[in-house]
Amino acid sequence: MAGVWIMNFIRTLFLMLCMGAALAQPVARPFTDAARGPAPIMETTKPPVLGNAINDDVRRTRNYTWQPPTIPHRVDGYQVDKNFNKCMDCHSRTKAEVSQAVPVSVTHYMDRDGHMLGQVSTRRYFCMQCHVSQDAVRPLVNNTFMDVDALILKSMRSQSGAQATQKN
Ligand code: HEC
Ligand code: HEC
Repeated sequence: MAGVWIMNFIRTLFLMLCMGAALAQPVARPFTDAARGPAPIMETTKPPVLGNAINDDVRRTRNYTWQPPTIPHRVDGYQVDKNFNKCMDCHSRTKAEVSQAVPVSVTHYMDRDGHMLGQVSTRRYFCMQCHVSQDAVRPLVNNTFMDVDALILKSMRSQSGAQATQKN
């Protein structure tokens, strides 16, 4: 009895494996990527010309506490190298009065062990590693991110909805 059962089991397993192999055959589907278009992965695409970055000087809402704020002004041609940091020419603590720029926060003067330095920390020297200007373009990838305020509002709404149905 057990032998027959095992035989059947092995046969079914074998059939399933065959079906799996048939299904796993590569299907020739054209490759498309939101950023690259249909260009094959081994080919270099021609990136679109950069537009003019938004320059409206309006500071934007941050989506979460530790988000580096986006840059609300153009930064074309600003020199940031070992000789000079154009950003700090306006954003350093001492220049803020004249430039009316937002001075960089205290974290920018800390080394990775939390020690306070007299000048901007080397790990915060290249500002555009974290801060970027914005372009008025359509997002390539959809995104359903909700910030904490929106989440709280949503949960309050669903709670009051639940209470309303309880009362009825
Ligand atoms: C000529 C002065 C000047 C220079 C140079 C400058 N900024 Fe600014 N920046 C400002 C001012 C003024 C603001 C306040 C908003 C506005 O007026 O654009 C600002 C705003 C910002 C903000 C938004 C801060 C916030 O809390 O929302 C960021 C980020 C920023 N700048 C980054 C940079 C970076 C990075 C560079 C260098 C590539 C740079 N800035 C160079 C003057 C300057
Ligand atoms: C490693 C990432 C990183 C780098 C590099 C960096 N920043 Fe920031 N920056 C942040 C983050 C994160 C915040 C928000 C939290 C905070 O203040 O630390 C911030 C905040 C700011 C703010 C707003 C300060 C405030 O009090 O609202 C300004 C202005 C700014 N950065 C400018 C600069 C400039 C100018 C440089 C280059 C000298 C720079 N940052 C380099 C990550 C970075």
